[in-house]
Amino acid sequence: MTSLFDPIKFGDIALANRVVMAPLTRSRAIDGLKPGPMTVDYYRQRATAGLIIAEATQISPMAQGYIGTPGIHSEEQVAAWREVTNAVHAAGGKIVLQLWHVGRISHSSLLPDGAAPVSSTNRAANAKTFTADGYSDVSTPRALRDDELPGLVEDYRKAARNAIEAGFDGVEVHAANTYLLEQFLRDSVNDRSGPYGGSIQNRARLLIEVMQAVTKEIGGGRTGIRLSPMTTFNDTALDSAPQALYNYVVEQIAPLGLAYLHVVEGETGGVRQPAGTSFDYAVLRSRFPGAFLVNNGFSGSEAQSVLSDKLVDAVAFGRLFIANPDLVRRLRESKPLNTLREEGMYGGGAEGYIDYPALPA
Ligand code: PHB
Repeated sequence: MTSLFDPIKFGDIALANRVVMAPLTRSRAIDGLKPGPMTVDYYRQRATAGLIIAEATQISPMAQGYIGTPGIHSEEQVAAWREVTNAVHAAGGKIVLQLWHVGRISHSSLLPDGAAPVSSTNRAANAKTFTADGYSDVSTPRALRDDELPGLVEDYRKAARNAIEAGFDGVEVHAANTYLLEQFLRDSVNDRSGPYGGSIQNRARLLIEVMQAVTKEIGGGRTGIRLSPMTTFNDTALDSAPQALYNYVVEQIAPLGLAYLHVVEGETGGVRQPAGTSFDYAVLRSRFPGAFLVNNGFSGSEAQSVLSDKLVDAVAFGRLFIANPDLVRRLRESKPLNTLREEGMYGGGAEGYIDYPALPA
């Protein structure tokens, strides 16, 4: 029987165990939107995870949607992330970077020259974000022109290259939680005509081009992808045919030799099986040759159970890793878990970030 504590390979990346740290926005980037010394400590403390998926990180200045989130588009940011990857590697861990473009989930005050956010559509989301003035409605976006999309793909390619230069073991393309790539995928948002709107094939085109560019740049074995077929996060409606849409996406990316497919089951940070909905995640797995990673509120025993049932290859934990830097040991030894404190989740200093205790040696 496979255990959570057995090693596994995600493509070219060798994991010591199957307890993965999920990507978590912590909003503590310092000047220049780069990780600072506290962020180095935070990830070093969690290096016993089989794999750390570092927080969602902007591929370009236009990709930002919240105050205090880091980027991977300047030389200064690459150098700062190198401190993080060196610390994790010195502690024996593995770490990939999540590549993020928020699309319309942003506010002009966060963008270059007060620009409008960009998306597949010019319709605003009914959502809010954190700006220098606090919790604010997102701004109305501008629909990208088709001739701007090659530049966007290029931003993903460069960000992937920057991540490798910063010492990451790979990248995860963030195509989940209703940010830019999912704003193209879903017919509830994408109201375009032309090659990037309309049919499933057209709505998936941008994501597939991004995956092709990233894997060509750094190799499929160092590239993962995150999807969330059934989330209504950011007040975004589901697609009209989620199973057909995401089956198609996975079928199209399958030949790229990706390291892993990471699925947020159900509502992000909510229930994995929302009432009145159905989605068969096993179909995605059956079409995907790499490792299958799931996430969303799993306890250690639930994780072991889906692993024992051979439904998944590994499980990612978010909230449990915020509160328990030594989560792997606590699960392995069935030790009590620290309780998460809500304050300090987003922004602030050391409190709620690097002050959660590990068990005594
Ligand atoms: C957030 O900042 O709240 C956030 C970021 C990325 C996600 C989900 C939530 O995928």
